[in-house]
Amino acid sequence: MLILGIESSCDDAAAAIIETTRPGVAAIRSSTVANQDDIHRAYGGIVPELASRNHVVTLLPVIERALGAAGCALGDVGGIAVTRGPGLVGSLLVGLMCAKGLAQATGLPIVGVNHLEGHLLAPMLEHELAMPYLALVVSGGHTALFVVEDFGRYRRLGSTRDDAAGEAFDKVAKLMGLGYPGGKIIDDLSHNGNPRRVKIPRARVKGAPFDFSFSGVKTAVAMFLASEAGVAASREDLAASFQEAVVEMLIRPTIAAARELNVDTIVLTGGVAANSRLRARLADAAGADGRRLVAPSLKYCTDNAAMIALAGSYRLLRGESDPLTIDASANLPL
Ligand code: KG4
Ligand code: ZN
Repeated sequence: MLILGIESSCDDAAAAIIETTRPGVAAIRSSTVANQDDIHRAYGGIVPELASRNHVVTLLPVIERALGAAGCALGDVGGIAVTRGPGLVGSLLVGLMCAKGLAQATGLPIVGVNHLEGHLLAPMLEHELAMPYLALVVSGGHTALFVVEDFGRYRRLGSTRDDAAGEAFDKVAKLMGLGYPGGKIIDDLSHNGNPRRVKIPRARVKGAPFDFSFSGVKTAVAMFLASEAGVAASREDLAASFQEAVVEMLIRPTIAAARELNVDTIVLTGGVAANSRLRARLADAAGADGRRLVAPSLKYCTDNAAMIALAGSYRLLRGESDPLTIDASANLPL
């Protein structure tokens, strides 16, 4: 079965075609993304109104590109999977309305997908994975630990109490005057910095070993920048010290959860999974503990529609679909 995936929950408009006959086993025929970083850069963050207006312009061409790259037409597709939440409601609505319009015109079945479910299952696009596995989802909007027990069965172990890790990267980059999006800039600068030079406290959430908190790290950087030492410090050392703190605050609860659940496989996914230090240190920590780390290629870590197609596929393969009355939900729970 060929499945068209559509994703527009935030600032990326994405479409993909996957081919699948069995849940969790899929060949990616195409995956296209229209990125809006150039539009939002001037504002230092995503402007929701601009994101949805641009999706209106780019989404149909992105879908056409995905079909073209897969060498197929809409008539060859067996079903449509579209993100219905969580995310920016205006952005979500553009993708959902587009998918509903296509379903109405063609009679194809449609399923609404939770964006987080897409991230959780994304590693299956490239790896064979046995469930249950532990997944650390780290992006600009989410930081959470889940156990993936089965298709459609996900247990949240913990989440961030304040900022998402990617949000902390972006906010600290803004404080340092580095530009947007800040994660990659901080990652690149850190290669030439000393992660022990600036003291950044590591936060823990009392009584909640699998929860995260990043607002304190952000404040520590702001206070350091306002101090005499901050004026003299190198950007590389500060970037590396901040990054090290975030990486360690992500790793400790993850390894603790893997031990408590005794799972063999830890999955790292979401935009911050692109961070070179996080990948390296989490792989080491997992390996030292006798577990393996699986992380998707960067293009499937960040927002993409192949993961949405995969997350919708097990329902479409069972012959299930959603009514055309489904709505977008900014806070859709998983
Ligand atoms: O998953 P994603 O593409 O979008 C959502 O937030 O859903 O993630 C984007 C986030 C941004 O906050 C960005 O700064 C961060 O991922 N990011 C990184 C790196 N590359 C992207 N953070 C740290 N290191 C990186 N190399
Ligand atoms: Zn995402």
